[in-house]
Amino acid sequence: MCGIIGAIGNKNIVPTLIESLKRLEYRGYDSAGIAAVVNHDIQRRRTVGKISELANSLASSPIESNVGIGHTRWATHGKPSVANAHPHASDTVALVHNGIIENHSSLRHDLEKKGYVFSSETDTETVVHLITDELKKGKTPLSAVKDALKQLEGSFAFGIIFKDSPDTLIGAKKGSPLAIGKKDGCVFLGSDAIALSAETNDVIYLEDGDVVELNENSITIYDKNDKIVERELHKNVISGDSVGKDPYAHFMLKEIYEQPIAISKTFASLMTSNRNIDAAKIPVDWSRISKITILACGTASYAGLVSKYWFEQLARIPVEYDVASEFRYREAAMAKDGLTIVISQSGETADTLAAMKYAKEQGQKILSIVNVLHSSIARNSDIVIPTLAGAEIGVASTKAFTTQLTVLLMLALNAAQNKNTISRNALQETLAAISDLPAKIEAALQESDSIKEIAEKIKSANSALYLGRGSLFPIALEGALKLKEISYIHAEGYPAGEMKHGPIALVDEHMPIVVLAPSDNLFDKTASNIQEVAARNGKVILVSDTEGYKKLSDKAADSIIVPSANKNVLPILYVVSLQILAYWCALKRGNDVDQPRNLAKSVTVE
Ligand code: AGP
Repeated sequence: MCGIIGAIGNKNIVPTLIESLKRLEYRGYDSAGIAAVVNHDIQRRRTVGKISELANSLASSPIESNVGIGHTRWATHGKPSVANAHPHASDTVALVHNGIIENHSSLRHDLEKKGYVFSSETDTETVVHLITDELKKGKTPLSAVKDALKQLEGSFAFGIIFKDSPDTLIGAKKGSPLAIGKKDGCVFLGSDAIALSAETNDVIYLEDGDVVELNENSITIYDKNDKIVERELHKNVISGDSVGKDPYAHFMLKEIYEQPIAISKTFASLMTSNRNIDAAKIPVDWSRISKITILACGTASYAGLVSKYWFEQLARIPVEYDVASEFRYREAAMAKDGLTIVISQSGETADTLAAMKYAKEQGQKILSIVNVLHSSIARNSDIVIPTLAGAEIGVASTKAFTTQLTVLLMLALNAAQNKNTISRNALQETLAAISDLPAKIEAALQESDSIKEIAEKIKSANSALYLGRGSLFPIALEGALKLKEISYIHAEGYPAGEMKHGPIALVDEHMPIVVLAPSDNLFDKTASNIQEVAARNGKVILVSDTEGYKKLSDKAADSIIVPSANKNVLPILYVVSLQILAYWCALKRGNDVDQPRNLAKSVTVE
């Protein structure tokens, strides 16, 4: 989604804006731009494509200024073009925006009647003209912005500069995230802590309805009631270094290889020193929970679907699972004494936030699992359990997913312990298996070269199927999503037992069918499905342990070996091979692995 940055200070801030925009690239974008005040004039540079294009444009036509704003745009209203790229400007004001102005059509109509001329198709440009109109009435920049905001419906984070007030940068937030930082005579605003990472050690997260006025040495925040307020200062846990990808070729690859350490840290954060689950970190009385509702989007939702199997099998708690974009509008009846678990890497996904709000209104207790600690979802939850994955930059989620699974399994075990539905032995065995996961994932990653050879064989496929049973069915869904996102090969995840009810008609000698078949209690069932595919000349890629390989490899075109492990941790282990398969397919097709086309890292609009 769009990323914004703004800076004001005692030095030329243009290089800082460009550096920050590079750090925002991970959010996904199609055009970029900056604007700055130079000798009581607003100067802009905007380009379609990568930040390097913008940097080239600045190199041939430099700008120096002490106050400016920058933007990476992920197109919503209007195609990617220079005219639609931010910052948008009039002759007195320029601004950058993340969010959507829902009443932009009627505002545009009224402004055009007043004689304002639009040069873009965007919803954002209406706000430029609204502020310009308020300034014309003789208002200060701050009052003009506040009065313009009153006319807006929708969501926004803004950074705004003024031709005649080169000592002022204004920010405003409603629905979209906005952070503020300060360092060495400069003050910054940005979409997230990553944008500010090289610049500041401390970060303030604005609340909805806040307007902030920034000068070289001061930060003044007004809340939704127009009262001056202080907001808590947080350590910026994202360092400049932690957002580099060295020595890996891509962030996605780096993040895949970071999974052992990320899982290990997340696991340790929920354990006591004497190897028990740290109940104090999970303040839920599970015996009083009548039902769990799990809400999330995309990959995070598949983590939720895996946990449905864990909560039901281990703790005997009924679980309802839904994708947040559907749940938010279906007026679901929710159980009394229900717990809603919300899962999100970014903590800012608009659909997830809206679904969570509905659940809250229905009296549900909200437990969130987030990777970005001070995100909107975290701030609006009753209980927050962080995943300790560190910054995830690749648009395709990997380490956030496996750490979400780690937290969810720990919650299910804690619930089972609390409700006496698990034996001490079974609990200790599963905890030991989670503790062994980092080593097993490292072993699974040793297969990368042979997975690369399989990718070479399937890279030209038009379509692929992923099959799994039980808690590996959601992993089939996630494997298919990874392939779609970065290789652009159509792929579908399916419960293996459902094949014969339709999809088997698709089987031919061309379509790869990735089958997840660990040697567990469902192995024989999945083996039958493999036989059915093989009998129709289907191209099976078997993902199994050594034992499963011995029994079934003759039916498969190719095989990926995964270490054997306790049944409960298999989803966390098996997904890693599928991430690697998608990675190599995308690379062999020449795709941009970290910033796949059309995708945004954090989807802050509907
Ligand atoms: C995963 O690879 C995706 N890019 C996407 O499905 C993502 O998981 C989804 O948009 C949810 O994001 P969140 O975890 O930040 O809420």
